[in-house]
Amino acid sequence: IPVPSSPPALYPSWFAPAPKDVLPKLKLPKGFKFGVATAAYQVEGAVKNDGKGPTMWDWNSRQPGGVLDGTNGDVVDLHYYLYKEDIARVAALGFNAHSFSISWARIFPFGTADSPVNRVALAHYSDLIDYHIKSGVEPVATLFHWDLPLALQAYYGGFTSPKIVDDFVNFAKTVFKAYNGRVKTWYTFNEPRVYCGQITTYPFVNASFAPGVNASTAPYICAWNLLRAHAGAVKAFREMKIQGEISFKNDDYVGIPWRANSTEDMAAVERHAAFRIGIFSDPAYTTGDWPKIMTDTLPPSYLPRLTAAEKKDIHGSADFFATDPYRTQWIAAPPDGIDACVKNTSHSMWPECHSVVLVDSNAGWAAGLNPDPLSDTWLQATPNFLRESLRQLQKRWPTKKMYISEFGFDEPFEELRTDMFRIVEDVTRTNYYMTYLGEILLAIHEDKIPIAGTFAWAMVDNTEWNSGISAKFGIQHVNYTTLERTYKRSAFALSEFYKAHAQK
Ligand code: NOJ
Repeated sequence: IPVPSSPPALYPSWFAPAPKDVLPKLKLPKGFKFGVATAAYQVEGAVKNDGKGPTMWDWNSRQPGGVLDGTNGDVVDLHYYLYKEDIARVAALGFNAHSFSISWARIFPFGTADSPVNRVALAHYSDLIDYHIKSGVEPVATLFHWDLPLALQAYYGGFTSPKIVDDFVNFAKTVFKAYNGRVKTWYTFNEPRVYCGQITTYPFVNASFAPGVNASTAPYICAWNLLRAHAGAVKAFREMKIQGEISFKNDDYVGIPWRANSTEDMAAVERHAAFRIGIFSDPAYTTGDWPKIMTDTLPPSYLPRLTAAEKKDIHGSADFFATDPYRTQWIAAPPDGIDACVKNTSHSMWPECHSVVLVDSNAGWAAGLNPDPLSDTWLQATPNFLRESLRQLQKRWPTKKMYISEFGFDEPFEELRTDMFRIVEDVTRTNYYMTYLGEILLAIHEDKIPIAGTFAWAMVDNTEWNSGISAKFGIQHVNYTTLERTYKRSAFALSEFYKAHAQK
């Protein structure tokens, strides 16, 4: 899709860095969760141990071309066995929270509600949770971070089948009951829009859709089943009177219109926001239903309509708003209109085309924040747009509590020092975290966004899905021969930041 040729308008008022003497005085709110984040498949390794069943990602990573650098999650950080060391190292930095995910295929190796529960795995996460608490690192748990039990894909096509709903709710109830009172903040799903958008991309699912499901409809059918699975789990959470709060993690941002005064670009931003965030957040937080733009454009064979009973369960099924605002992008209307765009691309329905053209934004770096704009993967840092995006989120899906449930940067330039300091110099990532956290302080104090926690992705280098271990997001380096962890400069910078801004 060609990018519109006109230059981006300037938005000076959206990026007015705080005077140098302001930021140091701003405090994080009391009880702020200053944490790190991980996900089971990306850090645990031990994929065949203690009775775990295979997951969709164990499969994907074994397919030719499934992972760009040919690595897989079989060992990676071996966090499954080294979790005590990992938690202790997080505690040593002074952080007070860790957001991790529980592997469904460990707890139910065969996935289904009527298959046996693996007590060894339940005991493992119980120990892991206890060790967090003992170390002063609050455990924050996600139930589904993309590692679908392979059995469920094979039996019925995973999230393309309504059967997934009962199986997920059963898994959720088992976990809630086991860890009630010890985990206080829960997420049902990690970035569901990203997950459902990808399920047509990876080798296994491409080859085997459930009957009647094809590549165009699959993302939406997935969204429908996933949303109902989320609501079912939250209903159970409340009926079981589980202590604490529950929600799901949205992916990154509301976009910035490419041309400030263009009604077409503003409309594109709205479509993009609806397809990207509204798809789950309108039902959960505001209207209780799919965004209108979606029901106007997608027939029920793509996007099944929600029944009154479903809407009732879904509406209000989130206690807080979580977002992973790694970046914010400019959004422009497709230059030749939506119809031409749909015709010319394989992403015929998903927002990448149907709704908008995405334009990478590097204005943050142009503003002199850092000379090295590019990460190793999809990420361009845009601290200058963070506050505007958060304000837009808060305007559309108002919340009393927001978590920055992930943010971070895969730094291509980091270097392991071989002198006695043995730290990794990651200047770009450090700069990323410090500028983002400065903007977060301003978002809290000036924009009154109720941010109650931030979670740096990631606690350690790990396997980045189809990019493998080459993309490095960790605030700690991992030597993949010895599994030794080494703090990076950014870990110390984050630690110092928290010390300087925390309220006792
Ligand atoms: C968000 C995803 O939840 C996580 O799994 C991924 O590694 C990071 N983004 C970085 O791409």
